[in-house]
Amino acid sequence: MTAKTAWFKGKDYITTEEWTEDQIETLLAVSADLKRKFRGRIPHRYLPDLTIFLMFFDKSTRTRNSFEAGITQLGGHAHFLTAEAMQISHGESAKDTGSILSRYGHAIAIRHDLIPGEGNRYMREVARWADVPVINMQCDVDHPCQTLADLMTIREKLGRNLRGRKVAVSWAYAPSYAKPLSVPQGLIMLLPRFGLDVVLAHPPEYRLMPETMAAARENASRAGVKFEVCDTMDDAFRDADVVIPKSWGCLDTMGANPQESLRIATQYRHWICDAEMMKRGKPEALYMHPLPADRGNEVTDEVIDGPNSVVYDEAENRLHTCKAVMALTMAGQEIPYETE
Ligand code: CP
Repeated sequence: MTAKTAWFKGKDYITTEEWTEDQIETLLAVSADLKRKFRGRIPHRYLPDLTIFLMFFDKSTRTRNSFEAGITQLGGHAHFLTAEAMQISHGESAKDTGSILSRYGHAIAIRHDLIPGEGNRYMREVARWADVPVINMQCDVDHPCQTLADLMTIREKLGRNLRGRKVAVSWAYAPSYAKPLSVPQGLIMLLPRFGLDVVLAHPPEYRLMPETMAAARENASRAGVKFEVCDTMDDAFRDADVVIPKSWGCLDTMGANPQESLRIATQYRHWICDAEMMKRGKPEALYMHPLPADRGNEVTDEVIDGPNSVVYDEAENRLHTCKAVMALTMAGQEIPYETE
């Protein structure tokens, strides 16, 4: 099939909210096809000699390496860039950075996720001036490459018909750093659109951005599924088919004072996903985490290394989904793909 792929050329992928369910279905279908080709060593050089610039304002293992490996497998090349190594650190504007990079290559991908109110705004300003697709590698609002991989993984494990299935998205304790809010925000906005009931749990200090909560409610209502909020991991996990417990920082203080999120978190050390907590969910409930996980704090080794955990499949799907995003938005020609 190629017919539906023409729409994507040159499009930005900044939040899943800006893409329709049909467009996301195409992304998932191309991801599955690219996974099959990768595993079968079937060449898929859809982006020969094209360049993507990867701009990081934060650290990364999965995102950087899936994009770098992915563009190589598609026949192109990535430049790994950090804000400190660029003139951004001397104050160069998003307009100048986006305009120049888009004259040197064929896409710009950006991670700018730690300061609420900044990252999404920055990448939209780059996109306003760039003539090439801008791809969100995680901002303060959404992590659309992660949530796409999560949806792909859930479908691989539970099938395409997810009606009546329940996902628990829960805050969990982590002392390592104040993690961005964008993963839980992205999950609560995307998953209801594909038929999943979603329950969100967090201590009172760890509220999410109001606009993402409103989008989650609206999306659930339109899809005829549930979106509920509770204040314990216990309640969220009850009869869940999928659990995604992870830490995030305090919306109000994490930009100016990330240590404050860690200080407040110490009173919630019991928000850990252990074997006892997993018993609240269905016996076969999937344990998911975007990684990196704080082992021993967010989750016990027994759970993350146990039979219900699908974290490595989930991380692998980051490769196939980011390749689909790059192939569809960057290619000058249509991308052929087979549907299952
Ligand atoms: N899940 C995720 O985005 O991982 P990295 O921070 O390692 O890129």
